[in-house]
Amino acid sequence: MNLFDVYPLYNVTPVKAEGCYIYDENNIKYLDLYGGHGVISVGHSHPDYIVKLKNQLDNLGFYSNAIQNPLQVELAEKLGKISGCPNYSLFLCNSGAEANENALKLASFHTGRSRVISFRNSFHGRTSAAVAVTDNPKINAPINEQQSVTFLELNDTDAVENELKKRDVCAVIIEGIQGVGGLDEGTTDFFKSLESLCQKYDTILILDEIQSGYGRTGKFFAFQYHGIQPDIITTAKGMANGFPIGGVLISQKLKASFGLLGTTFGGNHLACAAAISVIEIIKKEDLMVNVNEVSDYFLSEIKQVPQIKKIKGKGLMAGIEFEFEVGDLRKRLIYDHHIFTGGAMNKKLLRILPPLTVKKDHIDTFINALKEILA
Ligand SMILES: Cc1ncc(COP(=O)(O)O)c(C=O)c1O
Repeated sequence: MNLFDVYPLYNVTPVKAEGCYIYDENNIKYLDLYGGHGVISVGHSHPDYIVKLKNQLDNLGFYSNAIQNPLQVELAEKLGKISGCPNYSLFLCNSGAEANENALKLASFHTGRSRVISFRNSFHGRTSAAVAVTDNPKINAPINEQQSVTFLELNDTDAVENELKKRDVCAVIIEGIQGVGGLDEGTTDFFKSLESLCQKYDTILILDEIQSGYGRTGKFFAFQYHGIQPDIITTAKGMANGFPIGGVLISQKLKASFGLLGTTFGGNHLACAAAISVIEIIKKEDLMVNVNEVSDYFLSEIKQVPQIKKIKGKGLMAGIEFEFEVGDLRKRLIYDHHIFTGGAMNKKLLRILPPLTVKKDHIDTFINALKEILA
């Protein structure tokens, strides 16, 4: 059987990884400034993470959501504490798209409405409602076009109010910082207006923190830079360092009832063990302090590269924008300098999503490579 050929692949075959490095089958070492698309939070093959997962596997890998699972309760408590969101409830699923799918469904159940406001250049996943609120017609099939979605410009508060006034909108969904689109973000004024307008018009505000959450931006969630309290927060990527998991944090405004949401695999024992381990490591190693220190260093040192037009993003969710398209630059970084970076819908932007354990000398290696390639 062939693989369904949907991914344009770089010709690298990793076989092991440790910390911020990946090794291919010839033992060539690559610096991972991409984190497998913002997924590797506590570094590859972290010893505590491995022990936790191995122990869990020795005891119980999986059972369904029909039984008690104290690991889910432990994860919810730990996540509530570390995120500063202890008053939310947690629903566990398996991916980012699924988290947004459930968030949108909850908003629709709660309000009895179906239209959604989303923003230009947004990315929220590839399942039915999640892809419909994603601003990319190429990945929306005719079946997804049945959803009622209005895309607005980021930071256009008047346009949001004009739509919410019609009182048929169940949710406004917005990324803490846009990931796939290219690291654009709402202003604090805009986020505050979204919060108050959603309250005024009984609409649910969903913060998609799937890429920008879990400490990546230097705060646990990126919306915490704006002093707001969303009704629903979605999370996934960095949550379990590569073990598939997604989470929906739900404010007390939304009420649970048996059978309202459900999943076979979501919140299974192995996934919970992996997610608990990630939180323990973030705390033990003070990784959010590291994010802020390394990010400050990155911002000061990257000035050595005059070809850069603009730096976008926050913390270790950084976009480096050039006057030219970066496809070739990314290839040279991988093949000549053995450094993984990411791209974006904005073709002139290089995306940096390293493990939160990255150090200043890794930044030096990257900047020296950029200088050499662009000289
Ligand atoms: C902001 C955001 N939301 C949702 C998703 C979808 O997550 P997943 O690929 O786990 O379904 C992504 C993935 O890149 C994302 O960046």
